[in-house]
Amino acid sequence: MSKFPGHLDAEAIRADFPVLARTVRNGNPLVYLDSGATSQKPVQVLDAERSFYELHNGAAHRGTHLLGEEATDVYEGARAKVAAFIGAEVGEVVFTKNATEAINLVAYTLKAGPGDEILITEMEHHANLVPWQQLCERTGATLRWLNVTPEGRLDLDHLDSLLTERTKLVAVTHQSNVTGTIPPVTEIARAAHEAGALVLADAAQSVPHQPVDVAALGVDFLAFSGHKMLGPYGIGVLFGRARLLEAMPPFLTGGSMIEVVRMEGSTFLPPPQRFEPGVPAVAEAAGLAAAVDYLTGLGMGAVAAHEESLTAHALDALREINGVRILGPDTTKDRGGAVAFEVEGVHPHDVGQVLDELGVAVRTGHHCAWPLHRALGVQASTRATFYVYNTHAEVDALADGIRYAQRFFGVRQ
Ligand SMILES: Cc1ncc(COP(=O)(O)O)c(C=O)c1O
Repeated sequence: MSKFPGHLDAEAIRADFPVLARTVRNGNPLVYLDSGATSQKPVQVLDAERSFYELHNGAAHRGTHLLGEEATDVYEGARAKVAAFIGAEVGEVVFTKNATEAINLVAYTLKAGPGDEILITEMEHHANLVPWQQLCERTGATLRWLNVTPEGRLDLDHLDSLLTERTKLVAVTHQSNVTGTIPPVTEIARAAHEAGALVLADAAQSVPHQPVDVAALGVDFLAFSGHKMLGPYGIGVLFGRARLLEAMPPFLTGGSMIEVVRMEGSTFLPPPQRFEPGVPAVAEAAGLAAAVDYLTGLGMGAVAAHEESLTAHALDALREINGVRILGPDTTKDRGGAVAFEVEGVHPHDVGQVLDELGVAVRTGHHCAWPLHRALGVQASTRATFYVYNTHAEVDALADGIRYAQRFFGVRQ
């Protein structure tokens, strides 16, 4: 049963996150508003990794000894947990290093050639953009994209004309890491499938923050990272529909993914092992499983509701500050908890530096989404992102900090 039925008690949650108790610059308490870059980790995740190393450390899927067997159980148990979390079959979950590697796995194994098209959007993180550019360079396929409206939504007016029988795959974000925009992925997937194309959703910013069910979304591939969902670095996930993974050649090759190796050539295991060469990241998988348990205990509906209330508060608070422009939708409709903004007359790096002096940690720059910033008419922005442990008082600290930065740089009284 949930520790926090119905709603999240952020204060109680904070007690599980040791780092949130520390002070930072000038003795200020840490106000961590950069979970979109990486989330903090609760003791449950730290303990899971530590206890794996203390009690069970062995190489999974190798050797006959007890520790190896236990490591295999931990690793495969984590796979089952992740699969249940996103409504997938166990064999449809491939562990990767992160979301970036998961997307590259598809981009490097997809068969494409001259005449084929890949459809992406202007809203993508570079992780869901550069691999497709590279695929087109390698294979002679053509890259097409949907534009972004001035409000930071996807411009779907041209979806029908851009989706043709030439479209091999549509790759779209499930939640923008800059504007928080949640595109209508289910609708896009339906249209793509009608045109005969495959669909990959970049869920790096959605799986940590809202309930995600791959069947309901209707996508063929889904990519996300453990470290943005309370889990460890070094582990990510590619969901792929079983029949598609079955037909895909390996990406990275070596030990653990082979069936028979002869000097003349090799055959490969079925998925997911086919895509997991080398000794797997078992401690990281144990940590990710603990993160999934933690989020499941909170309830993903409650996580989304908590972030929505923080985001609504932040949008209201920032709108009240003269000279601040919010990038992207200014309501919480179809929008997650990433709030990027410009402060007139102050460079984002300067805003970030002043906030840091006050203990408020935000991200500044183009957030690996350069084309999106160009489309919105800015070079860079400051971005606050919220998660389960953030409080309304921290949103106020952000707004106060922005006002202070304006006074500091003499752009407002
Ligand atoms: C929307 C989105 N996609 C992909 C990524 C890449 O994630 P990772 O660096 O963990 O591979 C990020 C990371 O910021 C992201 O925000």
